[in-house]
Amino acid sequence: MENSYIPNSAVINEVRNLTYDTKLFKLQFKDKNIQKNFDYKPGQFVEIGVFGYGEAPISITSSPSTKDYFELCIKNMGNVTNKLHQMKKNDMVYVRGPYGNSFPFDEVKNKDILFVAGGIGLAPLRSLINEMLAHRNEFGKIQALYGARTPEDMIFTDELEEWSKRIKVLTTVDKGDFRWKGNVGVVGTLLTNIKAETENAVAFVCGPPIMIKFVIQDIVKLGFRDENIITTLERKMQCGIGKCGHCNIGGKYVCTDGPVFTYKQIKELPEALQ
Ligand SMILES: Cc1cc2nc3c(=O)[nH]c(=O)nc-3n(C[C@H](O)[C@H](O)[C@H](O)COP(=O)(O)OP(=O)(O)OC[C@H]3O[C@@H](n4cnc5c(N)ncnc54)[C@H](O)[C@@H]3O)c2cc1C
Ligand code: FES
Repeated sequence: MENSYIPNSAVINEVRNLTYDTKLFKLQFKDKNIQKNFDYKPGQFVEIGVFGYGEAPISITSSPSTKDYFELCIKNMGNVTNKLHQMKKNDMVYVRGPYGNSFPFDEVKNKDILFVAGGIGLAPLRSLINEMLAHRNEFGKIQALYGARTPEDMIFTDELEEWSKRIKVLTTVDKGDFRWKGNVGVVGTLLTNIKAETENAVAFVCGPPIMIKFVIQDIVKLGFRDENIITTLERKMQCGIGKCGHCNIGGKYVCTDGPVFTYKQIKELPEALQ
């Protein structure tokens, strides 16, 4: 019988500093066949492991169109992520997955799309944004709002600039510095600067629970329907495959029923955004 806990070896091809505490890892499975057949969808995650340190669930941030490698954007938070941050090109890690459900893609074709991301929440959305841009003419108006704590905390700044040539991109920081000439305020304040035909629009919101909670309230006020507001939940995980119960929330497992949920579903899970 196949053991779902056995990971595959993957080589770190490149490590890029995105901020003082967040790095982008470009990875490739050692076995070329596994890499070739590694099919995932935006919103899914992997369990990345370091021998002797453990595993951590991390969203896949690359778009599925990149077949030769996949990317993980990892913030240094504790045991495993700290060890990963010490690793370099050609070091080996262990990867299981992809796991979890995914963002709707075909279902939202021809609709207007609004992305709202806070901090590291841009990582899972980056996969979807790049996939939608690869199929640009299949979607309506696309707008992306991104907020970080300070200018130093902003990730994927080069890509935000690239995207802004093709879609409307607005950025903000909670606290500026002497170089920052842009908007200052929480990401929800940017919602006053956008026009959205909410009847035929879908909003994707990712970030810390407190940000998701307030942004969703604002988006509902704009007129988006609950089932058209999509977000992701984070819970401390162990198995990632619905066996250990660690990510249980109101009868759902975030690892298998999620991590992607609609606001309509979240309303049934009162502790979801605490
Ligand atoms: C589906 C999913 C996708 C994720 N995607 C990303 C991603 O793309 N990039 C990224 O940097 N991080 C992501 N995370 C968060 C990441 O999994 C944790 O930061 C990581 O597991 C911390 O592991 P560690 O061993 O380094 O830290 P630990 O030593 O285990 O913990 C450090 C601290 O973080 C807390 N913590 C750990 N995991 C979580 C969690 N999931 N929610 C709340 N608190 C937690 C612990 O209680 C502790 O206070 C994701 C989490 C989930 C569930
Ligand atoms: S992490 Fe084990 S059941 Fe979800």
